[in-house]
Amino acid sequence: MKEQLHKIKQRGLEDLEKISNMKQMRSFEVQYFGRKGELSQVMRRIKDLPKNERPALGKLANEVKQALNIARSKAEKSLTSKQREVSVIDLTWPSQPHRLGHLHPLTQFLDKVMNIFTSMGFEVLEGQEVETPEYNFDLLNIPKNHPSRDAWDTFYVEGGMLMRTHTSPVQLRAMKKKRPPVRLIAPGRVFRHEATDAGHETTFYQCEGLVIDRSITVSNLISTLEQFLKEVYGPKVKIRVRPEYYPFVEPGMDVDMQCLICDGQGCSVCHQRGWLEMLGSGMIHPKVLSNMNIDPEKFSGFAFGLGIDRLMMLYHGINDVRLSYSGDLRFLEQF
Ligand code: DAH
Repeated sequence: MKEQLHKIKQRGLEDLEKISNMKQMRSFEVQYFGRKGELSQVMRRIKDLPKNERPALGKLANEVKQALNIARSKAEKSLTSKQREVSVIDLTWPSQPHRLGHLHPLTQFLDKVMNIFTSMGFEVLEGQEVETPEYNFDLLNIPKNHPSRDAWDTFYVEGGMLMRTHTSPVQLRAMKKKRPPVRLIAPGRVFRHEATDAGHETTFYQCEGLVIDRSITVSNLISTLEQFLKEVYGPKVKIRVRPEYYPFVEPGMDVDMQCLICDGQGCSVCHQRGWLEMLGSGMIHPKVLSNMNIDPEKFSGFAFGLGIDRLMMLYHGINDVRLSYSGDLRFLEQF
């Protein structure tokens, strides 16, 4: 048995030298130190020896075990960290549950808007976020030095370009290539020089609408927008139209919707007014039609600008525009 123990030690040390990864190391441990391993088997037989032989052999067995163990831990340390990593992967470990994201509430709402208008025969166009002052202002009948230009103050970038303040320039960009009749919407991001608060952001979404044909009238405009609001907020929607000044339309008007929370009685959502301002619109100004190379004597049209953030907030009952851009999962996971 003594000899057997020496042999085990000898072979164990040789085996250790050949080990090159943690997997081999683990099977080494099982082979030598495991319950059914070689050392354990020898040690178990010690108790069957004559009493006087037991202590010496017990001592030897322990020494062999210790020597192998020291050699084993040295060998393990010298394995590179990469080999350790590979071997530490436990394929039986349960996987982490996947957290699936979803579309942002603004994107969901914009999809809804696009579906409604495409079902009415509108096509969807995309404009550019970086614009020239000419398209953002001048061609829309907002000349330099006109006070209304202040309301659309924005960020200027290199080369005299600017971040568009509204989607209205897409009207002109589209009409560079198209001829009436046209029915289109142009959703996208817009930018303003703005101090942010619950109702204002420097970056937000709009959706422009444009219809040009022969004999388009204000009643076409009103009925289209009423139909749109009913599709979004339900058949009970009541609207009213107020004159409003926008340089690129004549007449210009804002469309209000009777507050659905209080049925027009006045509440905190509508600031006790009973009505909510929904969007800006109007009949395209003859000068703007001319800038599109369209004869205002032959054609007429209407345009509108939807504030997507505002409409989405009303739809869900959200009271702070900044929540949309916060990336806060406690907010986003509710949609
Ligand atoms: N561009 C305007 C804004 O950002 C919104 C607007 C008003 C668009 C009237 C229009 C319109 O097309 O006819 O405030």
